[in-house]
Amino acid sequence: MELNLKDKTAIIAGASKGIGASTAFELAKEGCNIVLVARNKEKLEQLERKIYSKYQVKILSIATDIRDISNCELVNQTSISSFSKIDILINSVGASQGGIFWEIDDHIWEESFDLKVLGTIKMIKAVLPDMIKRKSGRIVNIIGNTGKQPSPRLLPGSSANAALLTINKGLGEELAPHGIVVNAINPGPTKTERWVKLMEKLSKDTNRRIEEIENDFIRDIPLNKLAKPEDIAKIVIFLASDAAANMTGTCITADGGWTKGIV
Ligand SMILES: NC(=O)c1ccc[n+]([C@@H]2O[C@H](COP(=O)([O-])OP(=O)(O)OC[C@H]3O[C@@H](n4cnc5c(N)ncnc54)[C@H](OP(=O)(O)O)[C@@H]3O)[C@@H](O)[C@H]2O)c1
Repeated sequence: MELNLKDKTAIIAGASKGIGASTAFELAKEGCNIVLVARNKEKLEQLERKIYSKYQVKILSIATDIRDISNCELVNQTSISSFSKIDILINSVGASQGGIFWEIDDHIWEESFDLKVLGTIKMIKAVLPDMIKRKSGRIVNIIGNTGKQPSPRLLPGSSANAALLTINKGLGEELAPHGIVVNAINPGPTKTERWVKLMEKLSKDTNRRIEEIENDFIRDIPLNKLAKPEDIAKIVIFLASDAAANMTGTCITADGGWTKGIV
């Protein structure tokens, strides 16, 4: 299958670990130049070295916090100065905590929306003017299937995901006349650092062992396992590529069959 990603340039917001880092490897494997964005400079530099030693694509690392729109604009400007244009934006930032609804502090809700929903919106707003001018661009949002099937113990993240699914659909229609497509992936439980932290928090809140809580999730997943970050990254690559030529405003569920409704 012709992905046509060679010599394209992709910004990955949330690149230092998890699904974002796996996506960076997969894009580099296809010859795509990449801009790695996250807050932890050291982690980004380590990742940059690893990817470069394997695939020798051009890589720019920008350590910044995407909750501030001026940082997102700087990411866009710096990337354009280095690569002349940005073809692809991948949004993979989010760190919502879970818990029992009446015990979740207000700041958890605020942080969840501030980072995942508003951070994604700000990154998209930052890259759009140039994409609109060039009438070309692909945006891929990593959202989460709890936006469609809320998980009672993960409501801050589930609500943020529901908001992003709406934005993903509406923007797909809004941007289509401008030559820009917007698509999403809804991963189910995926074994990343974020997932491990969520399990630790739920274990502390409910006084149950992590394995027990994780097994409750796995029992409900027909494929009977957590996804690996690279399982999700491979679908990101598809949506970022010309292979997904006739798709916009849509969302691919990759959850091992976890979601019970028709998706
Ligand atoms: N893992 C799952 O089970 C799962 C399931 C469904 C959906 N998702 C979604 O998939 C996305 C990626 O999840 P993941 O599990 O790969 O998470 P992760 O391993 O925690 O990675 C999150 C990335 O975001 C970066 N980040 C966090 N805050 C940031 C900020 N303010 N500014 C810039 N970068 C920031 C982190 O790096 P720094 O900390 O260095 O900034 C890291 O690179 C999230 O939106 C998540 O909700 C995950």
